[in-house]
Amino acid sequence: MGNCLDSSARVDTTQISHITSASGVSKFASKTTNSSAVSSLTVPSYSGKSNPESLPTPRSEGEILSSSNVKAFSLNELKNATRNFRPDSLLGEGGFGYVFKGWIDEHTLTAIKPGYGMVIAVKKLKPEGFQGHKEWLTEVNYLGQLHHPNLVKLIGYCSDGDNRLLVYEFMPKGSLENHLWRKGPQPLSWATRIKVAIGAARGLSFLHDAEAPVIYRDFKASNILLDADFNAKLSDFGLAKAGPTGDRTHVSTQVMGTHGYAAPEYVATGRLTEKSDVYSFGVVLLELLSGRRAVDKTKVGIEQTLVDWARPYLGDKRKLFRIMDTKLQGQYPQKGACTAATLALQCLSAEPKLRPRMSGVLATLEQLQTPKNGVQELTNRSSDSS
Ligand SMILES: Nc1ncnc2c1ncn2[C@@H]1O[C@H](COP(=O)(O)OP(=O)(O)OP(=O)(O)O)[C@@H](O)[C@H]1O
Ligand SMILES: [Mg+2]
Repeated sequence: MGNCLDSSARVDTTQISHITSASGVSKFASKTTNSSAVSSLTVPSYSGKSNPESLPTPRSEGEILSSSNVKAFSLNELKNATRNFRPDSLLGEGGFGYVFKGWIDEHTLTAIKPGYGMVIAVKKLKPEGFQGHKEWLTEVNYLGQLHHPNLVKLIGYCSDGDNRLLVYEFMPKGSLENHLWRKGPQPLSWATRIKVAIGAARGLSFLHDAEAPVIYRDFKASNILLDADFNAKLSDFGLAKAGPTGDRTHVSTQVMGTHGYAAPEYVATGRLTEKSDVYSFGVVLLELLSGRRAVDKTKVGIEQTLVDWARPYLGDKRKLFRIMDTKLQGQYPQKGACTAATLALQCLSAEPKLRPRMSGVLATLEQLQTPKNGVQELTNRSSDSS
């Protein structure tokens, strides 16, 4: 339908700001030419399910905070819940804030003695001005309305002076990033990697297939959180965006995301579709297969960018072993690895239309869990080699 670039969200690619998270992954945000003021901030609503063709109704900050199904905490309550944000309660740090462990009573949701009641994760945003506030509100808007086993549960929020906080269910195994690259935890087995990919694919499929589709926009290993059984849940909806509706093919937006994960056509044009998420999913699938980061500045040349380095090996089953994670110690089914690599290659197609939909990605991954394609073959290989 031609060039529908929305002039109100024109991308000025000469002004790209970078934020580097604790993991060294850099986020970027192109500055739009006309940012609006905090007081007029509105984000789409997903409650109007009766007419999926209509544009989501923008809601004001007051409407979002009053209608969301989550608790408004005071700063004091969250100080009590986290032992005053004590450093030893720190779970992690991202580009936009610090995450602390805390405890609340599961019925009254009031702060409680550490070790009792329900464990929570409290994200305290760094004072980032307008962008930080906008992402905070977008997160409350989406996670206050969208509920699914593969999306992290938002319990509440806090807005107190310049302080913006978010309260989530605690995810005992932290992020996928911790397991792939931090020293300490046992390397993830093949079966667990596939389980995590399936959980994350279910979360994205749910968003894309909702009556009012949502584009997640920041799919990456650090935003995939894991429960005690390695069930994956997506977190961080600060960049999420309403998908195109009616006969629109894309939404035009300020380019934001994380280097190495964002789809090339989106970075180049600001045109966002569900297929941008599919590309990012391909990058994470590649991280799961290779055990390498999307971008690794410690490497040289082409090896710095995982997609560029791995692409030539993905479609060749005789060469695939060269990019597989050595921490798997060969303990993976060759056929299953080949299927996953082919799937990653499809997700990473330069042409968005050639990328599969997330529902198709999910179906392919689920087949890898059947004994025929996974566990059985792995058992045979293990006994072959012993
Ligand atoms: N609900 C949670 N339960 C347990 N740990 C969490 C939870 N949320 C976040 N964390 C931990 O805190 C870390 C920081 O999360 P955060 O979302 O702030 O940053 P990030 O995802 O690493 O980077 P970015 O700023 O780009 O989102 C995560 O990697 C994870 O280890
Ligand atoms: Mg995050």
